[in-house]
Amino acid sequence: MPTPNVHVFSDLAALMAAAKQFVLEQARGAIARCGRFTVALAGGNTPKPLYQSLVGATTPWSQWHIFWGDERYVPHDHPDSNAGMAFQAWLNHVAIPRNQIYPMPTEEPDPQTAADRYEQTLHRVFGTRKGEFPRFDLILLGMGPDGHTASLFPHTPALRVSDRLIAVGSKDGQPRLTFTVPLINHARQILFLVTGANKQTALRHIFAGTGDPYLYPARLITGNALWFLDEAAAEGVVENA
Ligand code: 6PG
Repeated sequence: MPTPNVHVFSDLAALMAAAKQFVLEQARGAIARCGRFTVALAGGNTPKPLYQSLVGATTPWSQWHIFWGDERYVPHDHPDSNAGMAFQAWLNHVAIPRNQIYPMPTEEPDPQTAADRYEQTLHRVFGTRKGEFPRFDLILLGMGPDGHTASLFPHTPALRVSDRLIAVGSKDGQPRLTFTVPLINHARQILFLVTGANKQTALRHIFAGTGDPYLYPARLITGNALWFLDEAAAEGVVENA
């Protein structure tokens, strides 16, 4: 595990303000570089204030392309849907063209069919072929108290999928769709947003020099990652936190 690039913030508001500026800066750079910004969203609760804060941002929304790094296998109007959360908090309130927002398909009876469909969508949008990994400008990630990220849960088969973009994850027997480890690691920039004291134990294992990545899957994320933590998550984990 490379030495993590960690920033600790005094509280949630400071972390989210920094995350908003970071995302907008990544967007500005990508749009200047290649005329569009490709970003994959994290689910769960942590990123919601960030998404809400982006509603008022000044940025060329018409050049943003929105994806999800994972999804619960429920309809997008279900309270657990990561897509539903992002639409309600942000995407319904900004002028990103609807055909540039790519929710993971969860209406297929078979999750593997949905995973294959989303993989084809990524290849289409990025102009890549099977066996190639699209390079996202930014992938946002959270981390669970068990050290999972996206829907890459401890000791699940999805952790070992190395030849696909999208895998079928599983949590408590419920299917999930998730970016694979190599797709995440291929990103130009990864940003973890981790808050709360209940994440300390997992962070300690993930930032340790050695450890079991199949027990703490965020250890598998060895790409260009930046970690934004609040003091509650960083206490006892990061010096001077
Ligand atoms: C999901 C997420 C997941 C999340 C972590 C942290 O679908 O739940 O993508 O990986 O980021 O579980 O969740 P919280 O931010 O709610 O703590």
